Amino acid sequence: MAWTAVILAAGKGTRMASCKPKALQTLAGRTLVEHIIDKLADVAIDDVVIIHSPEAKKDFEKKIGPNKKITYVEQEQALGTAHALKTALPHVISDNLLVLLGDVPLLSRRIIKKLQKQTLDNDLVVLTGEVKNPSGYGRIIKDSEGKPMAIIEELDCDEAQREIKEINSGIMAFKTNVAKNLVERIKPSLKKNEYYLTDAIEIAYHEGLRTVSYGTTEEEVFGVNSKKDLAEAEKINRKKIAVELMEKGVTVIDPNRIDVRGKLTCGKDVTIDVNTVFIGDVTLGDGVSIAPFTVIANSVIGDETDIHSHSNIEEADIGSKCNIGPFARIRPQTKLEEGAKVGNFVETKKAVIGKGSKVNHLTYIGDAIIGDNTNIGAGTITCNYDGVNKHQTRIGDEVFIGSGVELVAPIEVESGATVGAGSTISKHAPANKLTIERSKQKTIDGWNRPTKKEEN
Ligand code: UD1
Ligand code: CA
Repeated sequence: MAWTAVILAAGKGTRMASCKPKALQTLAGRTLVEHIIDKLADVAIDDVVIIHSPEAKKDFEKKIGPNKKITYVEQEQALGTAHALKTALPHVISDNLLVLLGDVPLLSRRIIKKLQKQTLDNDLVVLTGEVKNPSGYGRIIKDSEGKPMAIIEELDCDEAQREIKEINSGIMAFKTNVAKNLVERIKPSLKKNEYYLTDAIEIAYHEGLRTVSYGTTEEEVFGVNSKKDLAEAEKINRKKIAVELMEKGVTVIDPNRIDVRGKLTCGKDVTIDVNTVFIGDVTLGDGVSIAPFTVIANSVIGDETDIHSHSNIEEADIGSKCNIGPFARIRPQTKLEEGAKVGNFVETKKAVIGKGSKVNHLTYIGDAIIGDNTNIGAGTITCNYDGVNKHQTRIGDEVFIGSGVELVAPIEVESGATVGAGSTISKHAPANKLTIERSKQKTIDGWNRPTKKEEN
């Protein structure tokens, strides 16, 4: 059975008070429409039609990237959800049609599959949600046998209808020819002069078509109309991810204070403390602990490594039993080998820090390769940039670099070398020797400290 999914994303989005189309607002680091497309990847959907406003095509294409399955179709004027679907229909090539809303991003694959299954024996399936507060949603009206008879938009509800807690998710599955037939017959609403797709239910009911509703949770069908809704969607999504992590054995100190904006994979006995953000693909090995206020993007953290608070780690490969932070900034192409330590106010970029080596305080290590068991003193700087080009610093094994050293690259410090504190090293430092560059210390005899002038 072939299926086309149509994503309606051309509305004006007035309630968002934003210049961006609503479906391009960000939830957990990705746009709403990306969340939806992601779900379609692993279900039986053959192609996707996105209905967008005339000016938004480039923005959608840019976010979604090249995808042969997707057709972009412009809705010239936002004349309502039924009009949006009507605009899509000439591009629907499958016998079955799934209508999704660009502002309902939390729908799961499980529910999409259920809707597809229900369509085998029905002409039209509408996904509904049982909610605590139905305001803003269309209400589901059912007959005595529980068959959906109509959907009434809030604006048109009488008092009793307003109390109904079963709402329209806006998501529907059809046989395509049924959708074509119904959409043609929808008339503009009296109050808003818009074509409501919700009217399809009433028409179908009166025609005696096989129409059913399928109910799910409020979380699945949550509609995002405003920034307030967006924050609520973040909350729902955050909780879902935290629960999934905890079910896999991760200790999440506070499920309300962890943000996963991508894919987080964890080993056994991982602990994640509060106010931590994971971006893109992040993997944490067994026994890793992540302290508060840490941000980790697209990185792998090895077993039993401790990340202390306020650390920022991006595109890094961190080995096992390492220690990072507090307040470390690990930038792209950093590799820490087993047992390495990077302490507070240290920045690394394009750097390898060998086994058991320590860079503990106030240091910049860029374009550098450091061997094993080397100690880099506080305040050391690899001067990697000459104003035009970047150059490399190579430091061997068991090196001791004193505090406040500047290493002017390109440069090599050989294994076993010691570099005296305060040196500016611009030439090769040989193995197993002390290299020091420092002007001679002098003491001035008979020097007097200035005294404070008398005020007159
Ligand atoms: C709609 C439903 C309502 C349902 C709710 C679920 C209608 C008339 N109402 O209301 O019953 O409870 O969704 O969240 O269908 N769009 C277009 N072109 C248009 C108008 C809208 O593409 O001309 C798109 C929007 O971008 C949006 C979606 O359709 O992604 C829904 O439109 P919106 O205006 O948000 O409808 P609601 O008032 O939320
Ligand atoms: Ca909406």
